[in-house]
Amino acid sequence: MTETYETRTTDVLVIGAGGAGLRAAIEAAAAGARVAIVCKSLLGKAHTVMAEGGIAAALGNVDPDDNWQVHFQDTMRGGQLINNWRMAQLHAQESPDRVYELETYGAIFDRTPDGRILQRAFGAHTYRRLCHVGDRTGLEMIRSLQDRVVQLGIEVHMEVTLTRLLKDGERVVGAVGYNRIDGRFVAFRSKAVILATGGWGRIFKVTSNSWEGTGDGVAIGFDAGAEVLDPEMVQFHPTGMVWPPGVRGILVTEAVRGEGGYLKNSEGQRFMLEYDPKKKELSSRDVVARSIYKEVQAGRGTQHGGAFLDVTHLGAEKVKTKLPSMYEQFLRLADVDITKEPMEVAPTIHYAMGGLRVEAETGATTLPGLYAAGEVAAGLHGANRLGGNSLSDLLVFGRRAGAAAGAYQREVALGSIDERQVAEEQQLLLLPFSVDGKENPYLLQQQLQQAMQEDAGLARDEKGLKRCLNTILELRQRAARVRVPGSRRYNPGWHTARDLRFMLTIAEAIVRAAIERRESRGAHWRLDYLEKDSALGRVNFIAYSDRGTVKLRQRPVEPMPAELAKLFEEPASKAPAPPEARRIPA
Ligand code: FUM
Repeated sequence: MTETYETRTTDVLVIGAGGAGLRAAIEAAAAGARVAIVCKSLLGKAHTVMAEGGIAAALGNVDPDDNWQVHFQDTMRGGQLINNWRMAQLHAQESPDRVYELETYGAIFDRTPDGRILQRAFGAHTYRRLCHVGDRTGLEMIRSLQDRVVQLGIEVHMEVTLTRLLKDGERVVGAVGYNRIDGRFVAFRSKAVILATGGWGRIFKVTSNSWEGTGDGVAIGFDAGAEVLDPEMVQFHPTGMVWPPGVRGILVTEAVRGEGGYLKNSEGQRFMLEYDPKKKELSSRDVVARSIYKEVQAGRGTQHGGAFLDVTHLGAEKVKTKLPSMYEQFLRLADVDITKEPMEVAPTIHYAMGGLRVEAETGATTLPGLYAAGEVAAGLHGANRLGGNSLSDLLVFGRRAGAAAGAYQREVALGSIDERQVAEEQQLLLLPFSVDGKENPYLLQQQLQQAMQEDAGLARDEKGLKRCLNTILELRQRAARVRVPGSRRYNPGWHTARDLRFMLTIAEAIVRAAIERRESRGAHWRLDYLEKDSALGRVNFIAYSDRGTVKLRQRPVEPMPAELAKLFEEPASKAPAPPEARRIPA
């Protein structure tokens, strides 16, 4: 029997209020749909703001040779060619329009002397391509999208966590969960659902993600029967804060290197000159993160196990103008004046390339009525995302998912809510108050984070991954005996008990796929298989639920059409040198 719950009805339910969710909501509303946005945090508090350095879009304002074809190639090469080529093509073609559109919503970008949007260099982008607002680009993007949502009068429900998708047959027809403040149960009945819940960084111990990043969207999609693509591909951003311990993992934007910062080891050497003499500090994130790791392993790390990131040669004025947030962040949190001393940095889990498998054009998942956009969806970034491609991803595919869901809802009637599904979810949610057990949700979460960091982190091997899988399976059993004190009124321990199940599901998918991908590719670095495997380079891994257990299968990477494949045949000598080498003044 169900406990009392409130039901709300809408045409399109958007779960998540970061860049993708907001952009999707705007587009679905433009298609004439009644839209409700639900977010588990406060509106505006999203991981989007952690993409600080810019939005990648081939405007060609600073480097006129830039165009969508080069952006497409960079994205595919960065992803080591297991990306969904069609997503990469749409992304490269449509990002410029999405940036200009953001201006019409009120975003104010830094400008070139002649008044165009300024663009900066970023890792593995051939040209200076990152449209930016100092080092606060994600924040500006959220601010302007949020303004637009408010102007349009779109309904927003804050501090609500939706924990299960509701289905009518195979079709997704809503979701159920609880209000975080008073624990009241709430169900949304809708014609279409768009998941835009972001990633799962909190599964690891050191991450740039804040508490919201527990992978809820991927997990509820997976539980409902959607497919998860390439979960093993998890990105370490090369530069997170290291010291003091309370700030470990907080992002140090790639814009620091984009503006000319140097990475140095404890012997003062600019080690990226050795690891990637051409791109140096602006190599792709997987390469830079591994290089820092190798320096630390070789005994050339900093006191707290990282590298130095130095901007002192740029001059105080440039640092304060171009990197104002970094200046403040280090001064306030670490008592370091970065105009005078180097920063201490180390890799931090930042982004999930893996996520729900979607159709490129529409963001439709494998379940009717269910769409996904942004970090919760996979395909665009392959084995490694380029910096700045996430903000453009959110805009391009948020808009597409919103348009597709907006069109779909015109064709269908509301589905019916199955009380049995609601009751099952309520029972699961309430279990920690009555179960015969005394496991602590925080402790289990910590043990999971520790195991994932140590054995499924930057450097992986079979032994560690199998050890990690055993830990996850044991934690899954213990999670069933989690007990929490108190009531449903604002009770973070109770919230953690449910989050833990999401995290364990995703962790299992990550580790199972990481075991099977017996090669090194992009962010997936196997110490026992250091080379790429040509057969595995032609497949994506798919995790799916088989009556609640995580199963894995392979799926061939979609072949590129001949006219796009040709772009990759160009001799390397014809490719332009990276921006730093060309020294064209901005
Ligand atoms: O370093 C950064 O500013 C992050 C950007 C991104 O993840 O795209």
